[in-house]
Amino acid sequence: MPQVHHVTHPLVQHKLTLMRMKDSSSNSFRTLLNELAALMAYEVTRDMPVVDVEIETPMETMMSPMIDGKKLTFASILRAGNGMLDGLLSVVPNARVGHVGLYRDPDTLQAVEYYFKMPTGMEGRDVIVVDPMLATGNSAAAAITKIKSAKPRSIKFLCLLAAPEGISTLHAAHPEVPIFTAAIDRGLNDHGYIVPGLGDAGDRIFGTR
Ligand code: URA
Repeated sequence: MPQVHHVTHPLVQHKLTLMRMKDSSSNSFRTLLNELAALMAYEVTRDMPVVDVEIETPMETMMSPMIDGKKLTFASILRAGNGMLDGLLSVVPNARVGHVGLYRDPDTLQAVEYYFKMPTGMEGRDVIVVDPMLATGNSAAAAITKIKSAKPRSIKFLCLLAAPEGISTLHAAHPEVPIFTAAIDRGLNDHGYIVPGLGDAGDRIFGTR
């Protein structure tokens, strides 16, 4: 599958297994989600451009690399994407954050937008769109279509679990957008949930039902 980065690091896989367990509390689900987001941030930012700058150590002057260009943007697809933000920001603390509000129409499973707010100066920014679950792919595709209108330099998509259907939909709509995921599950059930999956990520993060 082109452009799909399956993050197989043992720490990622171990934490994901704990998250899938149906009896894990909201508190531990949230903590694990943020820990996983931080670990996956390493993968998704691996190719960030750096530039050598002159600094002074206590010993002497040297050229040393720093991240180049405008600040990175994390674009959270509400509401479950918010569950990954603290973990991502722990690794990239000066990133900007945008939000896209979409809900799935329960009959058509199509994404309907109700909120959109991105940082100013999106031209030239690298954007990482985050949602723990890439299920049908309709929300991710719609969010990225909207974000593209702000003309960022690049877009990547970061999730924890992906269904093959979601990967196909997102790839068909935005073939240049790489997908980073910790697992590719078997598929979707009749309600559009990933199986075996981990249930409703938003409900498990926020303790709702
Ligand atoms: N959203 C979720 O939270 N879980 C799924 O399985 C699919 C979409």
